[in-house]
Amino acid sequence: MRVIRSVQALSAWSRALHREGVLIGLMPTMGALHAGHRALIRAARLSCDAVAVSLFVNPRQFGPAEDLSRYPRQLRSDSALCRGEGVDVLFTPSAAEMYPPGFQTSVVVRGLSRRWEGEHRPAHFEGVTTVVTKLLSLVRPHVVFFGQKDFQQSVLVRRLVEDLNLGARVVVCPTVREHDGLALSSRNQHLTPAQRRAAPILYAALRAGRTAILGGVRSAARIRETIHHTIAAEPLARVEYLAVCDPETLEPLRRISDAAVLLGAVRLGRVRLIDNLLVRIAER
Ligand code: PAF
Repeated sequence: MRVIRSVQALSAWSRALHREGVLIGLMPTMGALHAGHRALIRAARLSCDAVAVSLFVNPRQFGPAEDLSRYPRQLRSDSALCRGEGVDVLFTPSAAEMYPPGFQTSVVVRGLSRRWEGEHRPAHFEGVTTVVTKLLSLVRPHVVFFGQKDFQQSVLVRRLVEDLNLGARVVVCPTVREHDGLALSSRNQHLTPAQRRAAPILYAALRAGRTAILGGVRSAARIRETIHHTIAAEPLARVEYLAVCDPETLEPLRRISDAAVLLGAVRLGRVRLIDNLLVRIAER
């Protein structure tokens, strides 16, 4: 595996592969890799000839009061995981490499970035779409891989790629979960033992919402109530938002006709967890 730190070397690598007609897959990450990332790398290995993983804790997607300094950094074990999974290139730039002095450009996906996560983390998606645009321009991957856990991010990235004709196919892989349903996340390692025991409540509540839909409930308000009610049973969890929305536009639904995505964010102490569940009525 080749470790690349400079944008010039990364785009030279990509240019050489493009000349040879090699199918490139890219997985953007912020590191602290876990089994969810491993599943994405495996999906990339299956469908692409060469796989690049970027590992960059992107300061632009953290607000001033957020956990940038606490975000886990474990380059050594991340490199070992990538090497073990047959990754071809690990791109680990510094912040100065990605945003050199004089950097002024931002990429914003307007409507989709305002709601839900965007309301609670105002600068977050601008940072995400800016860095993802840079990575896509440098690597020019044929396929780019994201996890469904960050559902809103994946919808935004699809929009971004289409609007700016970035030319990559966006593949969204299912969320990988612990045995008790907690979605894998780099932030889970900050949970105290009591918070860790409480954390599966978010997924349990989303599942209660899905059960209600599949049982015939069509009012989004009633489904949100069901989800809220389940979370309320866990005193350590504080809800930030719960939403029942259209999976493509992320607009809130009043009634569910065929499909909905249930989105949620909760805080357990200083740790913020998000999760989602896609429900199709034909599933019944
Ligand atoms: O999902 C993430 O880890 C980040 O938001 C991403 C896509 C790597 C951009 O920094």
